[in-house]
Amino acid sequence: MNIVLGISGGIAAYKTPELVRRLRERGADVQIVMTASAEEFVTPTSLQAVSGRPIRSNLWDKEAEASMSHIELARWADLVLIAPATAELMARLAGGGAPDLLTTLCLATEAPIAIAPAMNRVMWANPAVQANRETLEERGIQILGPDVGSQACGETGAGRMLEPDVIADAVCSPEFAGAVADGILAGRTVLVTAGPTREPIDPVRYITNRSSGKMGYAIASAAHALGARVILISGPVSLPEPRGTDVVYVETAEEMQAATQDRVADADIFIAAAAVSDYRPAETSAQKIKKTRDTITLELVRSPDILASVAALQNAPFTVGFAAETENVRKYALGKLENKNLDMIVANRVGSDCGFDYDDNAAEVLWKGGEKVFDKMPKSELAAGIVDVIAVRFFETRGDEMQPTLSIVSIKE
Ligand code: PMT
Repeated sequence: MNIVLGISGGIAAYKTPELVRRLRERGADVQIVMTASAEEFVTPTSLQAVSGRPIRSNLWDKEAEASMSHIELARWADLVLIAPATAELMARLAGGGAPDLLTTLCLATEAPIAIAPAMNRVMWANPAVQANRETLEERGIQILGPDVGSQACGETGAGRMLEPDVIADAVCSPEFAGAVADGILAGRTVLVTAGPTREPIDPVRYITNRSSGKMGYAIASAAHALGARVILISGPVSLPEPRGTDVVYVETAEEMQAATQDRVADADIFIAAAAVSDYRPAETSAQKIKKTRDTITLELVRSPDILASVAALQNAPFTVGFAAETENVRKYALGKLENKNLDMIVANRVGSDCGFDYDDNAAEVLWKGGEKVFDKMPKSELAAGIVDVIAVRFFETRGDEMQPTLSIVSIKE
């Protein structure tokens, strides 16, 4: 688990080197982000030594990716844990303020957030602090503690930060993972293919297509956002790894087929968004083909149909294909739904003005007896809508006693 550990300026910050060690003992990678006042209580040098990573505190860090530390960290985190969380920090989170790196990344992250409040007992009991606690809880932020006992100020009561061991046990426990990942696909595995494949002609040339991977990566993120474990099998693309997914990189259709076969037994849902080369060179030249003739002929052979082979499995997962067509989109997509024996197909038009590489897309999701039409919108939003429909149909057709209450989309049957 990638944990961004935010440290705000309270006396309990002196316990954070210990907390880092306890988190790392439990297998977490810890990236520390400090507020300016935290540095009054604990040194960045000690924290860097125990975390093994440079400390981040500057919103305007020129070393960070595109000088956007907050976005880079927000994407990297599987969990943002703030310990200690002072009354001031809680107020900033509740109010949506973002004056520094820590609060800005909290606004920018899709990862769950947990805070371990620490403050004087009278401050903790203050109605303003309690109102902020309630607001944060209502927004799904996990509040760990505080503990009751003697405080650094000499008083006794509720407001002590939980001990590092207790915090580490809490955030690394399966119950915590379950509590934060309580989307409707929690406990389910979704296998996604994305991007193009490359079929080598010789060591310097290949056959490929215009897929950027954006649609498939957005599908993977949307499935993760619904709580699924996501395995993403990706062709060569230039996109950052979607947060919380296991990415397997492949190059050719045959490699994508093998990677899919190896992992499909774990999958409840398979979504084939990749643009797999239908044909590959019959032979790959070991050396660069020289320019000796006016014309050359390349013999192509069919690549394995990954989607069809998954749908044909005896215990096939809920299987969803994409159909990328330049004409007769609906007709050809319905043909693929039927011929490949799919549970669902996502039909989209591709061409010079749409589909491949664009940030927006439109699609019709089709299945036997139903459909849902999505007008043009950003691929991230489209993916969220498509995965909602898939989840509803998955539970309708394969659901069991674990089926959750579904109220996410209305489907035109
Ligand atoms: O990646 P982007 O730039 O964001 O573009 C998105 C997209 C247009 C690539 C995407 O929305 C899309 O339509 N993906 C499927 C592209 C495609 O190959 O469609 P197809 O109609 O040729 O194939 C039908 C289905 O069979 C697809 O699910 C495909 O993944 C699958 N297939 C095809 C051939 C093959 N050998 N094996 C397969 O699994």
